[in-house]
Amino acid sequence: MPVVSGRVNAAAAAFAGVRDFYFSSRYAERRLAPDVCDFTFGNPHEMPLEGMVGALRDKLTPRDKNWFAYKTSEREAQEFLAEAVGRELELAFEPADFALTTGAFTAILVAFHLVLDAGDEVIYSEPAWFCYGPMLLGANCVPAGVPLRRPNFDLDLAAIEARIGPKTRMVIVNTPHNPTGRIYDRDTLRELGELLDHASKRNGRRIFLLADEPYRRLRFDGRPFVSPAALYPWTLISYSWGKVLLAPGQRLGYLALSPLMLKEERKALQEALFSAQMALGWCFPNAVMQYAMADLDKLSIDQQALGRRRDRLMAALAPAGYGVLEPEGTFYLWSRWPEGNPQVLWNRLADRDVFVMPGSLMNAPEYFRMCLTASDRMVDRALPALIEAADIRP
Ligand SMILES: Cc1ncc(COP(=O)(O)O)c(C=O)c1O
Repeated sequence: MPVVSGRVNAAAAAFAGVRDFYFSSRYAERRLAPDVCDFTFGNPHEMPLEGMVGALRDKLTPRDKNWFAYKTSEREAQEFLAEAVGRELELAFEPADFALTTGAFTAILVAFHLVLDAGDEVIYSEPAWFCYGPMLLGANCVPAGVPLRRPNFDLDLAAIEARIGPKTRMVIVNTPHNPTGRIYDRDTLRELGELLDHASKRNGRRIFLLADEPYRRLRFDGRPFVSPAALYPWTLISYSWGKVLLAPGQRLGYLALSPLMLKEERKALQEALFSAQMALGWCFPNAVMQYAMADLDKLSIDQQALGRRRDRLMAALAPAGYGVLEPEGTFYLWSRWPEGNPQVLWNRLADRDVFVMPGSLMNAPEYFRMCLTASDRMVDRALPALIEAADIRP
């Protein structure tokens, strides 16, 4: 007799490739060994930011008896965000537009439960972050992947439009985009907003846009960023400090409502945020993370170093036969494998203790992703292995 729920089984099946890669692959065996060149997940490979340690230490000491009492989305944190994110995105947020969460993961979860009902369909573009599908299945909803347009991995608006059906309730746009590093421009996002508005009217039911923006601050060469929340009123933003601080274990983020939303809808969603978070298991960030938010918000990992690693890898890989796509943001480098069998090439690198994320985990087996949070030493050691692997014709 089955004991695990159907929805968890479905999520597990959709996540099996990533789970096996993390727990029981050649990568799993070697990932903690000394001198491994690990370009897989967005994890730190150097000591944490000093400022981050100071900000947390400062807020650890209780100032009053309620310091560690139950916390919801604390008013001070919401006020800070309304002002700071409002300035950043040039949008007139109210404090109540913000639900404080344990990272973007929970912000996405809250967004799903806030507006989706069982059986609703959610469209996202692939290759994609590998948790949208499992999270949707876990919420009893239907993931609907549509391909990004190659070779530059632009949003394919025609494909999104064609995929919209009567059950479509949400479209996810992740910008800057994991894994390709693309940042979608204003015209594309405006066009997407227009087509979602038409489709919503046709369906007689609002289609929401989830703007998943945890890499929003990580942009190369001073590139501009526009949030879909500034262009399509029915947008929810998910954000996390896990990327910009490179501390994904210290869970802090938020879900925000676009202030452009109609007054009544905005108010209804504002009022429902608490209930969604409570019903999902009190998914608010812990007290210390909320107190430290304003100080943490001033910090960032070394973006110049990310840029240098990007440039070094691109300069070496492109002439060796890799089809590297220049990332505009994020801390990833997305590349087509050189000629040959991707699995054999991945193993050639693994033989040299160089580990990259296979594109097969993101529905793009002829590609792979390298995370630029690897140290410079890892880049030094990996480059000869990457170049030699390309020379082999399996
Ligand atoms: C596109 C995208 N969204 C959301 C998340 C979740 O971020 P966090 O773990 O900081 O909540 C990630 C993490 O890799 C991501 O890449």
